[in-house]
Amino acid sequence: MLDREVTVESRSSDVLVSVYRKRAQRYDRSTLLLYLLGFHHWAYRKRAVESLALSQGDTVVDIGCGTGLNFSLLQERVGPSGKIIGVDLTDAMLDQAAERATAHGWSNVELVNGDAADYDFPSKVGGILSTFALTLVPEFDKVVRQGAIALRPGRRFVVLDFKRPSGWLMNKAAPLLAMLLTGPFGGNLEMASRKPWQSLEKHLTLIQFTSLYLGGAYIAAGENTNSHFS
Ligand SMILES: C[S@@+](CC[C@H](N)C(=O)[O-])C[C@H]1O[C@@H](n2cnc3c(N)ncnc32)[C@H](O)[C@@H]1O
Repeated sequence: MLDREVTVESRSSDVLVSVYRKRAQRYDRSTLLLYLLGFHHWAYRKRAVESLALSQGDTVVDIGCGTGLNFSLLQERVGPSGKIIGVDLTDAMLDQAAERATAHGWSNVELVNGDAADYDFPSKVGGILSTFALTLVPEFDKVVRQGAIALRPGRRFVVLDFKRPSGWLMNKAAPLLAMLLTGPFGGNLEMASRKPWQSLEKHLTLIQFTSLYLGGAYIAAGENTNSHFS
């Protein structure tokens, strides 16, 4: 039974890696197509990074960082004395992220190739971000739990992702929208039913839940409200 589960898990991450290896080089351009569907991902990213409430000098972890589309926004917040750690399953996506870092002369970017579920967070992290990635990770609850332990008191884990919409109209349109929005990125309707914000609520204090795109996406923020003196 256990062997079977492991096989299914590893096959699904193999599929994702092969999808993203094929898409890595044109990933940034393909996100522009989202605008044709009225999905303003860049505005959503800005709001998610604002929600992190980072300070100069912070270390921030970007889970499923892909090609590093969030890095410029994160750099503005943490500055050269801070650090960005990008974790991603797909080597080809990280190759693009590395090219981005080199092109901008960012020497404070560390890239980690691996499954977020196995990532060993450094201690005293100033913020954790995941955009359009955590829902792809079957063990998202483990990722949030591990991240929550690593977060400094008062600091936040922010998730921007797709979700299954709840309204009647969007619910009817969900299968088509899921196929158009997330299909090219290895997502499916079953994944859209995952609820990582419930893990933020379980392991941290949920301080924000903002519904976007008529309920088809969201920004959620969990804060480590443990004592600042611990
Ligand atoms: C839709 S892309 C999002 C990339 C980036 N965060 C963005 O907002 O543009 C999803 C990324 O999640 C990564 N990913 C999927 N499953 C993962 C896992 N288990 N651990 C780490 N990264 C994963 C993929 O390799 C891919 O780069």
